[in-house]
Amino acid sequence: MGNVTILVGAQWGDEGKGKWIDILADRVDIVARYQGGNNAGHTLYVDGQKVVLHQIPSGIFHPEKISALATGVVVNPHQLVEEMKKVSHLVTLTPERLWLSARAHVISPWHIHLDGKKETESAQPIGTTKRGIGPTYAEKANRTGLRLGDYVNTAKRERWYATMRLETPGFATHQEVYAAEWKQFDAAAVPLAPYVTDAELLLRRAIAGGLGVLMEGAQGALLDINHGTYPYVTSSETAAGGAFASVGFAPKQIDKIYGVAKAYVTRVGEGPLPTELKDAVGQHIANVGKEFGATTGRPRRCGWLDAVALRYSAEISGYDGIILNKMDILTGLDEIKVCVAYQHPELGRIEDFPWDFEVLAACEPIYKSFPGWTEELPHGGSFKDLPHNAQIYVQGVEDLIKVPVTMVGTGVNRQDAIFK
Ligand code: GDP
Ligand code: IMO
Ligand code: MG
Repeated sequence: MGNVTILVGAQWGDEGKGKWIDILADRVDIVARYQGGNNAGHTLYVDGQKVVLHQIPSGIFHPEKISALATGVVVNPHQLVEEMKKVSHLVTLTPERLWLSARAHVISPWHIHLDGKKETESAQPIGTTKRGIGPTYAEKANRTGLRLGDYVNTAKRERWYATMRLETPGFATHQEVYAAEWKQFDAAAVPLAPYVTDAELLLRRAIAGGLGVLMEGAQGALLDINHGTYPYVTSSETAAGGAFASVGFAPKQIDKIYGVAKAYVTRVGEGPLPTELKDAVGQHIANVGKEFGATTGRPRRCGWLDAVALRYSAEISGYDGIILNKMDILTGLDEIKVCVAYQHPELGRIEDFPWDFEVLAACEPIYKSFPGWTEELPHGGSFKDLPHNAQIYVQGVEDLIKVPVTMVGTGVNRQDAIFK
């Protein structure tokens, strides 16, 4: 048995990964983000104080644990420095306990500009976070990107600028017009330099030495570049496989893979969401669940739990357990529905998540109904402390997904966790 745990967002992001990483970090030595950038917004509460982390792993408030950003991550240097300052008020940061991969690619003002321009000008916008994520991964795949280890070296960074000015139309002008942004970008290299290291080597050594490592996913499996609702996806490998690819360790080192799912679904940005509720119930879930993006503040679209999508997510990531989060938001509803299959106008009944977003967009959900509950859910305790109908709902989800629900979330705090 290995000593690596992976925690994946099982839906379209914002499932509550931040809270659960903070809870599970207790059991490990290191927490490592394996993909995404500051498009993520992971919320946790430290002594009652709300903190939203965009780049720093959500185990950071455990002072004795190490945090790492592995190569699959893309880094916005200025934002990272700002986030490190924010976190420093609550916990001490040192290069010994924060490892930034020299291989991770850097998001520059140019990439942010390209993201915004494409979103504004496209006839089919994705609804990105406009944080420059897509263009940075594109540049990485094109082998013309800037890696963190090169960015913190002034001569190498200047060499990248020179190449970009020569080969990329518009880049030189951008640097002239937005000189203040570029100055800020350059300035962040100094405070980051001491933290930049061969994080993958250190992580592999730690794993080989028997330390517990928790891999923190960002976004969600249905936003995966390979397996998600393309093109309405993010630009990285969000599913569990992204962790092996990013850190470069053997899958046989894995102990457990968990998928965090809301007890309903949300999605920010464009793209199909078959169970979306555009009625009073959807509005109720959005209000009670405070469903506004932790990064962009955009309202999240809400709907009933989609078991077809979640089963697919479990298949591509191999969850040992589902963490069914934000169960408390469903309290007080008379009836709770779960989508068990789709009905397509031409293709009929569909039980496997389609590869084609246009097929998915034309699907109507086929629902199974569960009775609601009115009792407040317990803050902690065990599964049998849940109201009877909440237990029936959890069991119903397990039966539909064919994966055990191992934890249930009932509130924003660390203690609002029920272990089965
Ligand atoms: P992440 O991106 O997956 O880390 O999730 P976000 O932080 O973007 O969004 C999850 C939101 O739900 C945050 O505001 C959390 O504070 C909140 N939250 C997390 N778990 C629970 C829960 O079990 N119940 C309730 N009511 N809120 C939760
Ligand atoms: P966390 O980690 C929810 C969505 C965007 C958009 C699509 C592509 O907090 O769960 P991008 O900026 O990545 O190119 O946008 O992905 N998206 C997220 N949705 N939670 C996130 O992160 C997201 N990160 C990106 O809204 O639809
Ligand atoms: Mg989020």
